Amino acid sequence: MQKMQKKWLVGNWKMHGSLAANKALMEGIRSEQPTLDERVGMVVCPPFPYLAQLAELTKDSQIGVGTQNVSDHLQGAFTGEVSPLMVKEIGCGYAIIGHSERRQYQGENDGLMGRKALAAIDAGLIPVICVGETAEERDSGRTHEVLARQLDAAFGYIRTAHDNIILAYEPRWAIGTGIAATPEIVQAEHEFLRQRIAIRDKDFAAKLPIIYGGSVKVSNASYIFSMPDVDGGLIGGAALNAREFVTIYRELIEIAG
Ligand code: 13P
Repeated sequence: MQKMQKKWLVGNWKMHGSLAANKALMEGIRSEQPTLDERVGMVVCPPFPYLAQLAELTKDSQIGVGTQNVSDHLQGAFTGEVSPLMVKEIGCGYAIIGHSERRQYQGENDGLMGRKALAAIDAGLIPVICVGETAEERDSGRTHEVLARQLDAAFGYIRTAHDNIILAYEPRWAIGTGIAATPEIVQAEHEFLRQRIAIRDKDFAAKLPIIYGGSVKVSNASYIFSMPDVDGGLIGGAALNAREFVTIYRELIEIAG
């Protein structure tokens, strides 16, 4: 399939940070002087309270800011929720949707993920839609069934006409464990996801960036990123270290070249 050139490195800071730590991290990233390249987008996703700070810290750069979650509504009586329009207004361009930690700890389901992706798109954000199986699902041979269900749920709401979408494959067993999926597993699952999307829309599937997340580090990034259906990474722990994050970014630029 003819592939789109754009690749992505997205840092998910999870529930880490403080005003001082965020400033130091961004200064660190910027002092490493990554030559930001239009072929490889860099996005950082801090917790909600720091989105405005990050929008300010990145405003004269090409580094994008994303949120880790958004409401599936744009406005209304939804106590404690944050509208995608609000994060957009303060300078956010991306939204992680359906992260496995939200599925696991906040009980988010496939339908909610689809509605959130649609709300994010309606607000003008680029959703980073996460799918992935648990260890138990993989061990019992149900990986493709689970990925297909999650993918179909998301695309039941959004349409392939929305071409600004990033898909992330994050097997739950590889997240935060230090043990990434092998490049062969990542390639196989990305290929499965792309083929599943191609049933709906071949051209869209060919252009869709599919990024991998789960224990990506400097030591394994280039092996994973050089697989043909891998268009970048969604990075947790290593995104909190400026040098590591920028080194991983450079690996991706080299591969994009
Ligand atoms: P780790 O890179 O810490 O495994 O986290 C991956 C992740 O969940 C990114 O969203």
